[in-house]
Amino acid sequence: MTSAGAVDLSVTIGALRLRNPILAASGTFGYGLEFAHLVDLNRLGGFVTKGLSREPIEGAPAPRLYPTPSGMLNAVGLQNVGVRAFVSEKLPVLRKFDTAVIANVFGYAVEDYVEVIRVLENAEGLAGYELNISCPNVKKGGMQFGNDPSQVSEVVSAARRAANKRPLWVKLSPLVADIGLIARAASEAGADALTIANTYPAMALDSWTGKSRLGNLTGGLSGPAIKPITLRLVWETRKAVRTPILGLGGVETVEDVLEYLAVGASAVQVGTASFTDPRASQRIAEGVEKAFSEAKMFTLNEIRDKFLVENS
Ligand SMILES: Cc1cc2nc3c(=O)[nH]c(=O)nc-3n(C[C@H](O)[C@H](O)[C@H](O)COP(=O)(O)O)c2cc1C
Repeated sequence: MTSAGAVDLSVTIGALRLRNPILAASGTFGYGLEFAHLVDLNRLGGFVTKGLSREPIEGAPAPRLYPTPSGMLNAVGLQNVGVRAFVSEKLPVLRKFDTAVIANVFGYAVEDYVEVIRVLENAEGLAGYELNISCPNVKKGGMQFGNDPSQVSEVVSAARRAANKRPLWVKLSPLVADIGLIARAASEAGADALTIANTYPAMALDSWTGKSRLGNLTGGLSGPAIKPITLRLVWETRKAVRTPILGLGGVETVEDVLEYLAVGASAVQVGTASFTDPRASQRIAEGVEKAFSEAKMFTLNEIRDKFLVENS
């Protein structure tokens, strides 16, 4: 039972049960703590931390963000405190919240991913891991792990072996020829869930000087502009695998959530929306509960896969 009546928004993703299907997305919600004075973390399904690496990373030069029509470009350069500082400084404070904390993990070689997970496995207070595979594999000529099924298989299998204690989510790159192929590779290698998807490589420049609008030459496009593209990717993924999906791209409203659920997502993540409204994730979670209550719908099953059912 919830305050809005008998609506049960809880959702199970593999072995993990979440209070509701709204999580804040990696890189847009810090380590959670930066938002704790604005958002009641206990009202979220959970949140995903900033990407964590073996060693601290300073990140890309400024400017790191640039607004574009219906979206935003970012080139943060995966700045983070490093996995050990996360465990010693951030995690102890996070443990007092009753929310699922998912650690986002990245690296530039398979061993980096394994080492980050190894350090996290010894720490208390995490609900799971999310692998960001949109990173260049430095040892294999710099091609993104996520663009090649055999590299996806290799990194996910290695992470799976390291992650004995907790669920393993894999966050796919959207810029692939066949997302179903990549989704199958990740699922067969042991992913418990798939996050669809990361940002789209993009750029913006000053027309007169020819200089990039970012400190980096290129960045990642996010926000409402990408929602229609990512929605289709979720649908394609749903058709290819039975693995639970977290839809991620341009979620700003209750309707966005319903659309992602209808094409087969089990839950969604909220990214760029937290930049315009830091309370967006909580607002959307409460909005979904109210909308279900008003529509006299009592569980997420009433909307989930609706698009697939309508079009099968
Ligand atoms: C400023 C910024 C930083 C991000 N950092 C990360 C990151 O560290 N790891 C990751 O997997 N995704 C990262 N992302 C991608 C988001 O988690 C998300 O996949 C993407 O922004 C699409 O969702 P949105 O349209 O709701 O923002 C970042 C996005 C933004 C805007």
